[in-house]
Amino acid sequence: MSNFHLGAKTFIDKLDINDSIILEIGSERGEGSTAWFDAVAKDLNKEFYSVDVTDHASTTLAHLKNTNLIVTSAGSVWTKDNLNKKISVLYLDNYDWISTMNNIRPVEQELINEYDSRGVNMSNFDCQREHLEQMINCMPYMDEQSIVICDDTPFDKSSGVYFGKNGPVIPYLVIHGYKVYRFENGVILTRGM
Ligand SMILES: C[S@@+](CC[C@H](N)C(=O)[O-])C[C@H]1O[C@@H](n2cnc3c(N)ncnc32)[C@H](O)[C@@H]1O
Repeated sequence: MSNFHLGAKTFIDKLDINDSIILEIGSERGEGSTAWFDAVAKDLNKEFYSVDVTDHASTTLAHLKNTNLIVTSAGSVWTKDNLNKKISVLYLDNYDWISTMNNIRPVEQELINEYDSRGVNMSNFDCQREHLEQMINCMPYMDEQSIVICDDTPFDKSSGVYFGKNGPVIPYLVIHGYKVYRFENGVILTRGM
């Protein structure tokens, strides 16, 4: 949860013009990413989809005329059955990450309760499984020239691996030809540019 996506603009500006789409999995909860991508997509004349498990964005952001706001049971479910266009920008920032399992903060307990009300037993393992499954489903649709923005995915210096929401997604993308740009709390990966 940050303004990390803003750092992707320099990469987005280098994309060739074509009709591939922008896809955000994890709509904004007041942080502004969905409105920001709505404007970027409008500038580039691209279709934009923002997918979430709650209807918060679809009720509060209905004025964003350039955004297709999708409510589904999980990003992994939606990406399995609904993709049919090439993706040039994919923003993965959804199922929430618990920072320290043995010291859960009040704000995280609220999220755990909200997930519970949807029948989801929130866990970091399932967070990583969910983001990786979304990426695997999207991979056949990724444009040869494309950008994947992985928020809440810091590099853990002591173990030398990526941690957090998209930890397992990073090596998966490298295997598929993506180049890694590491930032403090996340990673932007590009291919074909
Ligand atoms: C951290 S917020 C997204 C913030 C937004 N990307 C931004 O940068 O402003 C996480 C969002 O992911 C949604 N979410 C949780 N589990 C999900 C899942 N399995 N699939 C899709 N969205 C999910 C939550 O409802 C919440 O709106």
